[in-house]
Amino acid sequence: MPRDGHDIKYLFEPRSVAVIGASHNAQKIGYKILQNIVEGGYEGRILPVNPKGGEILGLPVYTSLAEAGGEVDLVITTVPAKFATAAVRDAADLGAKFNLVITSGFSEVGNIAEERELTSYALERGMRIIGPNIFGMFSASAKLDANFGPGGISAGSVAIITQSGALGLAMIGKTAVENMGISAMVSVGNKADIEEADLLEYLMHHDLTKVILMYVEGVGDGDRLVDVLEEATRLKPVVVIKSGRSKRGAVAAASHTGSLAGSDDVFDAVMRQCGVLRAESIQEAFNLCKFLSTSSMPAGENVVIVTNGGGIGVLATDACEKYNVKLYDDNETLKSIFDPVTPDFGSTKNPVDLTGGATSPDFTGALNAALEHEEIDAVISLYCETAVFDADNLTEMIEQTAESYRAAGKPVIYSVFGGSTAEAALATLTKKGVPVFGDVYETVACVGGLYRHWRNASAQPAGIDEAEIDEAAIARIVDAARADGRSFLLAQEGKDVMEAAGIKMPETRVAKNMDEAVRFAEEMGYPLVMKIVSRDILHKSDMGGVALDLENREEVIDAYQAIMSNCRARVPHARIQGIQVSEMAPSGVELIVGARKDPAFGPTIMFGMGGIYVEVLKDVTFRAVPFSRAEAIEMMKEIRAYPLLLGVRGEERKDIESVLDTIIRLGTVIQRCDGISDIEVNPLMAYEQGQGAKAVDIRVLLSENSGGGTNA
Ligand code: COA
Repeated sequence: MPRDGHDIKYLFEPRSVAVIGASHNAQKIGYKILQNIVEGGYEGRILPVNPKGGEILGLPVYTSLAEAGGEVDLVITTVPAKFATAAVRDAADLGAKFNLVITSGFSEVGNIAEERELTSYALERGMRIIGPNIFGMFSASAKLDANFGPGGISAGSVAIITQSGALGLAMIGKTAVENMGISAMVSVGNKADIEEADLLEYLMHHDLTKVILMYVEGVGDGDRLVDVLEEATRLKPVVVIKSGRSKRGAVAAASHTGSLAGSDDVFDAVMRQCGVLRAESIQEAFNLCKFLSTSSMPAGENVVIVTNGGGIGVLATDACEKYNVKLYDDNETLKSIFDPVTPDFGSTKNPVDLTGGATSPDFTGALNAALEHEEIDAVISLYCETAVFDADNLTEMIEQTAESYRAAGKPVIYSVFGGSTAEAALATLTKKGVPVFGDVYETVACVGGLYRHWRNASAQPAGIDEAEIDEAAIARIVDAARADGRSFLLAQEGKDVMEAAGIKMPETRVAKNMDEAVRFAEEMGYPLVMKIVSRDILHKSDMGGVALDLENREEVIDAYQAIMSNCRARVPHARIQGIQVSEMAPSGVELIVGARKDPAFGPTIMFGMGGIYVEVLKDVTFRAVPFSRAEAIEMMKEIRAYPLLLGVRGEERKDIESVLDTIIRLGTVIQRCDGISDIEVNPLMAYEQGQGAKAVDIRVLLSENSGGGTNA
């Protein structure tokens, strides 16, 4: 869809809003939306449109949009599907800028052509469509509540973009309970035109918005989403909840790489790459939004736990490991800070244990000591209900210390656990917007989210690393295979692609007869592997077409004869081009590197443990291409088997540089070579440092309906 249109600002800050289908009937959606707009305090022009005319909620009703006259920034369409297309056309003809199409009954029920027609008519006239099939939007900047959910949304600093209607409406209620104010909320529904990336472009620069929460079901233009998210997450935290699988991602994958890359795995890894915080549940997402929208950013990673319960302190320590929160462990400094405020039988080590006898002044003393010390960057304060604690002061103690931390710009978070007193304090403090949670893991998860965001936002942009490859040579190989009617490359062609990409493979030659095979073997040295070369024999081993570990001239002669007679006997009509004589690659750490055009995110790379157990171990990870060498290192560190590359049990470190180089080279090929849809190298043998890595086996699939070989 063309994206040129009006400045997205007019969607969030419209100067005039028309409701097409504004109803006289208070039970109808067209009435409810108008009521929310009026009662929400919108100060621009409101234009209710209904052929019956009259008056609704004290506003004059126009019989048509044309009658209303004037420039219209935002139209809200709430007429049934059979009238919606005409209504949208009218609005586009009159030059309206944005149209929220509330109406259901389009692509979500199979009416794809109708939706496309409505959207392209609008886009051709410069009007952008939100939806169809949405509940509307809210924008605190314009005091505009244009949805048909419960009114009375409180303005705040969390922006929500949701693909689910029902869940989105429920979120409005939940934000009220959680005392989480909203800066903007947009229901994107079928995403016929406007999608998350368009809205993020506005929200990332929107002053009122401190955190962006997205509920995503499927990704359309993933390439663009990645670019926009990478920019947005440097400015503010973006939290994502995703359910389901993208429609196109569910299409059976064409290769090994694809079948491993359940689209959700790709989504998850790409979100991490973009610096997005993916929440596992709605509650976790809300917790993150609540905390991140109010928390200061830390100055460093020295975190201290202050607790009155030893057990809960240990639980929090476990949680810190899980969520990668770094606990400060300079015991001498900790002692100097906390000794004056900790009882003799407590502990000044992290977690700092004030013991079960601690009272509110003890907590205040320890929290103030941590606040004043510049070595400490953030504090997790854990309160367990005890009989000796002066419970009446709990709320006040937390409120006051939280305020001191806020004023000083140092992050603090509280966990309050216990009976009714604790629960009451939790409820009161939540209402006041203090960062307090019940469960310790929930609390630490928020701190983990803060640090993930902070690390991403404060890291230097890593840039992009690409390799020098011979694109023209690859294009020629792809074109020749296409001319031969194939959508895959033969072994020798795959090898030629690797050569053009600068990726090392074992030395290989194709012998046309026995004498040649023997000569090649003598020249190359032993041990060797021999394989039949025939486009008619795909499963070479099954047909007796492979011989491994050949040590000398006699074995080469025997193997040549055996392979030829096996293949002639089992596949009598096979066209045999010769026998491949290859250097037998010594064993090393077996890795897999896949490069694939993902239906949602475009060029992606998979990396992980290779060999024959890939499918079982599923120790793989993904990235959207292009990326930096630093990102490729992060990618390597994500797999469980990473220590094997560093060398275990006295083994040497493997040639990680060569593996990285292969990843970057394959990324460059999949990005630049249009004609290739999938490449899988398995195994990529990684040898000891300085010995390199070799692509032992490779499969290449070609893109559907693609003529040329490269993008160049
Ligand atoms: N221009 C302006 N107003 C028009 C019109 C037109 N071309 N055609 C009809 N209207 C008026 C009707 O007269 C009616 O007003 P009235 O009640 O005063 O008579 C009003 O528009 C609404 O039309 P109606 O036929 O009563 O429709 P409805 O209110 O029952 O349903 C929708 C309209 C859009 C709500 C419904 O079709 C729909 O899609 N519902 C699902 C919405 C949804 O769930 N979205 C996704 C949420 S996540």
